[in-house]
Amino acid sequence: MPNFANPFSGNVPRKISKEELIQAVRLDIAGELEAIFVYDAHVQATDDPRAKKILGDIRDEEKAHVGELMELLRILDPKEGEFFEEGVEEVKELMEELAAEEGQIPEEKKDHLRKTVGSLLE
Ligand SMILES: [Fe+2]
Repeated sequence: MPNFANPFSGNVPRKISKEELIQAVRLDIAGELEAIFVYDAHVQATDDPRAKKILGDIRDEEKAHVGELMELLRILDPKEGEFFEEGVEEVKELMEELAAEEGQIPEEKKDHLRKTVGSLLE
């Protein structure tokens, strides 16, 4: 269960600052992830097809909420969005390296992956 230090877990008697809103959205994302985990655990724990169907549908709606909140976070804090994109690009590079290692990339693309600044200077 997420246990963030959070003064905004309930109603607050004032409008919050942009920085506080960003923190609140991060907490909201954590809550959605927790909900996904719990609904999925219940889906796995029952053989009742009706419960599996309904709880699975709710779980998937929570996944959409994560996407909405992540986009809101990018809107509120574009710099943080750049970090998210940086992570996405790092994973893409790692997947390309893995595919190259496993021989799933055409030879000409493998050569591109091996080039470094040093190799371009030669
Ligand atoms: Fe939700």
